[in-house]
Amino acid sequence: MEKIFVQGREKLYGSVEISGMKNSALPIIFASVLVKGESIIENVPIVSDVHNSLKILSEMGADVKYEDLHTVRICTDNIGIEKINMGLVSKMRASSYLMGVLLARFGKVRIVYPGGCNFGHRPIDEHLKGFSQIGAECIEKNGFVEITTNKKLKSGEIILDKISVGATINMILASALTDGKTVIRNTAREPHVDDVIYYLNRCGTNIKRHNDVIIVYGSSSLYGARYRIFPDMIEALTYISCVGVTKGAIEIKNIRTSHLRSLLPLFEYMGMDIYSANKKAINVRSMIKLCGSHVRTMPYPGFPTDFHPQFSSLLCYTNGGGSVDETIFPGRFAYVNELKKMGGKLEKTDSKVFIMPSYLYGAEIDATDLRAGAGLVVASLGAEGESTVNNVGYILRGYEDMVGKLSSLGAIIKII
Ligand code: EPZ
Repeated sequence: MEKIFVQGREKLYGSVEISGMKNSALPIIFASVLVKGESIIENVPIVSDVHNSLKILSEMGADVKYEDLHTVRICTDNIGIEKINMGLVSKMRASSYLMGVLLARFGKVRIVYPGGCNFGHRPIDEHLKGFSQIGAECIEKNGFVEITTNKKLKSGEIILDKISVGATINMILASALTDGKTVIRNTAREPHVDDVIYYLNRCGTNIKRHNDVIIVYGSSSLYGARYRIFPDMIEALTYISCVGVTKGAIEIKNIRTSHLRSLLPLFEYMGMDIYSANKKAINVRSMIKLCGSHVRTMPYPGFPTDFHPQFSSLLCYTNGGGSVDETIFPGRFAYVNELKKMGGKLEKTDSKVFIMPSYLYGAEIDATDLRAGAGLVVASLGAEGESTVNNVGYILRGYEDMVGKLSSLGAIIKII
């Protein structure tokens, strides 16, 4: 099993290129099921969740090929719903997007429950309630979800009771081929939701957003197009926390500064110097011991839950420490015990963790999910001595070449 080895305490300097957004690439890859002809998707990150999503579609009969390292050409004209790889479906949360696209295209879908990071119970009730509001029948039986509609899905209104990225995207996917106007209320505003909207609009839909309301004017015939996905804002935040623990100065390139606008003031408040050379890059200098802070995870543009573990690692290296109140995934604390193995002083209560200033030293630690793994790499970069992070597979699910990018910034890090 591969591990990441880190020799801590090397300052970071230089520039790092951010890859495409994993949580955009996945729904857009599945959305290609809705369009006729070829979709050419650019800026696709090289991560295992992308590989598995493409594998699911190609096993269903899609024609998938790479134009270059980060550009994939997908044609789903000949896919069928008989050969769905349930093993892969049960590994990833994003496979839930198969529900929306297959329902829209074939009027029926039968799959196992989607998998994904283990944060405890991750229901899909909002997805199913949404599908029912546009005329579908949903049955959950023997570990399968069966969704059918004996006539065309109807346009109309969908009200989501909870702000859910996945359910919002699935409602857009399910109504994209429906002629007429579908209004979706209480939607998630994460940039990756808008990325899906822009891709589908490039293929022929007319989808508009007004704050948390999305209006879909669907079309029964969508055609493949070339589309470049957004850069990964969570990856960018992860590199900011890296230089925060090691000290140094880095340029973070190929980002959208607008996606980070609500968070950069937090880092400046903590003591980093951040200036944006242009809309696509920022320079981050961290030379002094930072002061701590208290945050609460919220839907976008609030503090992202996918930056929770990395931020906890950063807080270990601050004056005063702080806390993270996790309101999205109360079970997202598996990293706490691993930081304690490194000497971290953390106290978890209900859905909140308090982090006291800690002196971290290298240790053998276990990644338990994608962002927890990234958080442990962040902690290891600032720790005294050597660390070994196990279960690298979790990190490779969502970070392209994290080891290569960090070593190009001067970190002593390698995969063993
Ligand atoms: C997406 O998961 C992301 N995954 C997650 O990123 C991210 O943490 C999450 O959105 C929140 O931003 C992908 O895009 C593949 P939700 P998703 O539906 O869609 C509850 C990463 O590290 N809920 O917005 O599953 C749910 O339990 C991953 O990249 C219901 O109750 O998240 C949670 O408490 C981890 N019923 C809240 O809503 C539902 O039907 C938000 O979940 C759906 C969700």
